[in-house]
Amino acid sequence: MPKPFLSIEQLTQQFPDGNGGTMTVFENATFGIEKGEFVCILGHSGCGKSTIMNILAGLAEPTSGVVKMDGFEVSGPSLDRGVVFQNYSLLPWLSALKNVTFGIKARYPLNSKQEITDQALEYLAMVGLEGDVVHRKPSQLSGGMRQRVSIARAFANHPKLLLLDEPFGALDALTRGTIQDELLKIWGQTEQTVFMITHDIDEAILLADRILLMTNGPLARVAESVEITIPRPRNRTEIVDHPNYYPIRNHLVQFLGHRSKELAGQPSNGEMQHPETVRIDKIKTDEAGGETPPLRSVGG
Ligand SMILES: Nc1ncnc2c1ncn2[C@@H]1O[C@H](COP(=O)(O)OP(=O)(O)OP(=O)(O)O)[C@@H](O)[C@H]1O
Ligand SMILES: [Mg+2]
Repeated sequence: MPKPFLSIEQLTQQFPDGNGGTMTVFENATFGIEKGEFVCILGHSGCGKSTIMNILAGLAEPTSGVVKMDGFEVSGPSLDRGVVFQNYSLLPWLSALKNVTFGIKARYPLNSKQEITDQALEYLAMVGLEGDVVHRKPSQLSGGMRQRVSIARAFANHPKLLLLDEPFGALDALTRGTIQDELLKIWGQTEQTVFMITHDIDEAILLADRILLMTNGPLARVAESVEITIPRPRNRTEIVDHPNYYPIRNHLVQFLGHRSKELAGQPSNGEMQHPETVRIDKIKTDEAGGETPPLRSVGG
């Protein structure tokens, strides 16, 4: 079988537990992401989502295991992987505009200064930042504005892989909706692959092809891969009317509410930990005629 675009193989991360011992965040985590896929990951605070993302970004070394992108092992950061961090990490001494042009210059060194500025302004406008505000430094921006600069910076570089760690957390509902739509538009037009952490179940269903569900830590597992069987283009107001919406949503809520805890803390015993694929499709089951079989409850 050909390897997926992004291949996470037996990833284990341990940290000192602060008490002289070690704490295993996750063990032998193994999963793949196909080119062009939009994958969201959901799990409770502290389960290891950002840790996985930092490893995918090449910013942290796992204790063991490898990550391969396009067949090459990920080691160190690269312009092919664009990151929006949970705390947006902008360069504090540069203006919003320069924070964006900085990356574009590195990615497209042959472009003229004007082209680079225009491209940066285009992406800043896309996230609703226009006019004088682009010349302000991060300390002079609100939290939501900083987060938007960080999003513009990642998108403007057209990376093959976008890694987004709760990118919309600091945004008000209206801006959040606009940027979600922009993200879907850019993603639809490009070959980009997206791996996104979010705490927002509805956001994950709106955006993702697949949602990975993580159990609680320590010894967390990427336990399930839930397919979002709702066709695109999706519209935030209409999506809730799709017959698969609430069955999928209920499955996710149930996982986060109960099974994330029940399945937690199991050692891998050296075995690869693959997520189980969950496909919930009321339309298919309804078409099959007769009674609708109960939704599959995994592990039960
Ligand atoms: N550099 C580090 N040294 C020691 N422990 C760490 C380090 N980084 C993360 N951890 C621990 O690893 C676990 C996972 O952390 P991580 O930041 O990946 O969680 P998360 O799932 O992103 O949580 P949240 O949703 O709150 O952002 C936590 O218990 C955290 O304390
Ligand atoms: Mg995190």
